[in-house]
Amino acid sequence: MALLLRFVLLCGVADFARSLTIINPEQMIEKAKGETAYLPCKFTVSDEDQGPLDIEWLLSPADNQKPDQVIILYSGDKIYVDYYQDLKGRVHFTSNDITSGDASINVTNLQLSDIGIYQCKVKKAPGVANKKVQLTVLVKPSGIRCFIDGSEEIGNDFKLKCEPKEGSLPLRYEWQKLSDSQKMPDSWLPEMTSPVISVKNATSEYSGTYSCTVRNRVGSDQCLLRLDVVPPSNRAGTIAGAIIGTLLALVLIGCIVFCCHKKRREEKYEKEVHHDIREDVPPPKSRTSTARSYIGSNHSSLGSMSPSNMEGYSKTLYNQVPSEDFERAPQSPTLPPAKVAAPNLSRMGAVPVMIPAQSKDGSIV
Ligand SMILES: *[C@@H]1O[C@H](CO)[C@@H](O)[C@H](O)[C@H]1NC(C)=O
Ligand SMILES: *[C@@H]1O[C@H](CO)[C@@H](O)[C@H](O)[C@H]1NC(C)=O
Repeated sequence: MALLLRFVLLCGVADFARSLTIINPEQMIEKAKGETAYLPCKFTVSDEDQGPLDIEWLLSPADNQKPDQVIILYSGDKIYVDYYQDLKGRVHFTSNDITSGDASINVTNLQLSDIGIYQCKVKKAPGVANKKVQLTVLVKPSGIRCFIDGSEEIGNDFKLKCEPKEGSLPLRYEWQKLSDSQKMPDSWLPEMTSPVISVKNATSEYSGTYSCTVRNRVGSDQCLLRLDVVPPSNRAGTIAGAIIGTLLALVLIGCIVFCCHKKRREEKYEKEVHHDIREDVPPPKSRTSTARSYIGSNHSSLGSMSPSNMEGYSKTLYNQVPSEDFERAPQSPTLPPAKVAAPNLSRMGAVPVMIPAQSKDGSIV
């Protein structure tokens, strides 16, 4: 028995010693971008291998169009680097004593362009050997954004989305509820490991804080999302309030315009009657000129109604319901000066009515 064992051992050693051999346990290495890859190449030589030691590392890039490249060389007891521009300064032998049987290298600050098959060739005549190792560089998931696509109202359909900015495929997603019972709604369970959860007929129980974790083989990243499912009436109420407020304001402006117009017509009638009686007196010019200057000032106030001013105007309306406050609102010190004052508004409203009044006036005089 012992004899047999010794025989087997002897055979093994004899077989080993016959020539140069590379002992490489790994054939595939996977690392994240920016990390360091250790590419092993340990070898044994036999007594017969008496020639000078030569070591060569070659890279066959993943891009098949590119030819094989020498990336580092050991020859005549010297190390030669900088053969391949893409790996400049990033390839080193890890051992201080290569002749002891370690030709392993480290590739630092890994880039996606480093992906490929690396080949270690050791030569010590008459012994020769080579071994390949495949290097894969993956990008960790990062820059994840969680967001809600749609409006989070009771009864609504919307989507919860989880989007990493980068990350090598395959990516695995996992949603979790962090608040309350930490229990995901049952109807979401089939999509718990997908980048998008389609929420149907939302209820307020869905409210809470959720996390989405994205993983690949080299790393993971996470984002948080706060969901508040509110009754739709809240928003509908706000919009309805704004619309009613606007309508009230318009009615108010209409009243002011109507009153002004009516008053002016009455004044005009009085003066015309007056004029008929005293024909020897020339018609008063002042009335036309005041009307003109009045319209002129309207034009200047209209000119200042740029879209940004209009925005301020509508905001004022939204904030200043009910409408009785509307006339007072512009005097409020909290309003920025850019906003249009109510007298301007009423004058602005008066413009279209004033113009026909003036032309009629002209034809009479
Ligand atoms: C080579 O890289 C590995 C990590 O992959 C590290 O542990 C080791 O110290 C590095 N060796 C040298 C000589 O830089
Ligand atoms: C939405 O959910 C409510 C109760 O949560 C239910 O009464 C209603 O029928 C559902 N609507 C639809 C369209 O599924």
